[in-house]
Amino acid sequence: MNSDFLRLRDWSAADLDAIFTLTRELKSQHKRGISHPLLARKSLAMIFEKSSTRTRISFETGMFQLGGHALFLSSSNTQIGRGEPIKDTARVLSRYVEGIMIRTYSQADVEELAHYADIPVINALTDMYHPCQVMADIFTVLEHKGSYRDQTYCWIGDGNNMAHSWINAATVLGFELRVATPKGYEPDADVMEWARQQGASIIYTSDPLEAAQGADILNTDVWASMGQEEEQEKRRRDFAGFQLNAGALAVANTGCLVLHCLPAHRGEEITEDVIEGPNSVVFDEAENRLHVQKAIMATLMQNTKE
Ligand code: CP
Ligand code: NVA
Repeated sequence: MNSDFLRLRDWSAADLDAIFTLTRELKSQHKRGISHPLLARKSLAMIFEKSSTRTRISFETGMFQLGGHALFLSSSNTQIGRGEPIKDTARVLSRYVEGIMIRTYSQADVEELAHYADIPVINALTDMYHPCQVMADIFTVLEHKGSYRDQTYCWIGDGNNMAHSWINAATVLGFELRVATPKGYEPDADVMEWARQQGASIIYTSDPLEAAQGADILNTDVWASMGQEEEQEKRRRDFAGFQLNAGALAVANTGCLVLHCLPAHRGEEITEDVIEGPNSVVFDEAENRLHVQKAIMATLMQNTKE
C-alpha cells in the first residue's frame, strides 16, 4: 500500500477498491448518524495555491467528521508564498501534523513535498492530475450503476488534469475510455504512452460524437483550467463543438450518467439542459468528494503517529 495519494497510477486496483469499500461504509454510517472518529487527535495541513470550494470544504469537514482537525494554509499567508523551500516546509509540517493535502500548479512540487515529508501527502489537484476528484466520480458511477466495471466512459474537452487522472483510472481499473479533444489539446504524451504500454483500452479522437456513441458515462470539464485564464478567449474558439449537449446525449446509451467535476461554465463545455437534466449526477458527484476523501485520509493516516 502506498503512503501518499499523488497519482492514481501509483495505486493498484485492489487498493483503490478497498478505498471504495471504506467509502461506502463511511457514507452509510454518516447518513445514519453514526460517528467514526478514525483520525481522533490527528491534524491535516491543507496547502492551497489555487482557489477551491469543494476541495477545501470536503477535506475540512471530512477531517472534522473523522474526529480530527484541518488547517487551511493559503500560500499567500504562509512562508510558502515568500519562497520557503518545499523541502523545509515538508519537514516542518511533519513535526506538527499527521497528513498534508496540497493543491498547487506543479506535480513535481507535490512529489518533492512527499519525498521530504515523513507523513502522508494527498494531491488535491495539480496541473497534471486531480486523483481525488476521479475517485469521487468513479464512486458515483459505482453507486448509480452498481459497478464501475463494464461501463464505457467518454471524456469530451480538454486533455487536462482531469483527463489525465481518468486515463490513469481506466488503465489501473481496466475500463474502456474514449477521449475527444480538439487538435492541439490532447492529453500529455507521457500519460498516454504509459497507458498504452500497460495495454489500456483508450481511444483518442477529435470527434466528440464518435466518443459519445454508445457511452454509459459522459464527462467533461472547463475549457480553461485554473492558471489558464489568459487563454480563455482562444480556448473558447478552439473548443467550439466540444460540448456535452443534447446531441452527445442522443448518441450515448439510454440511462447514461453525466459527470462534471464543477465548477461548470454553462453554455461552454456543457449546456444548461444537460447539467440540470435527468442524466446529470453532478451534485452526488460533488457530495462524494467528502466520503471518498474521508476514506483516503483514513487509509493513509490511521496508522501514523499522533
Ligand atoms: N472539483 C473541484 O475540485 O472543485 P473546487 O475547485 O471547488 O475544489
Ligand atoms: N481542470 C480544472 C478542474 C477544477 C476542479 C482546473 O484545473 O481548474
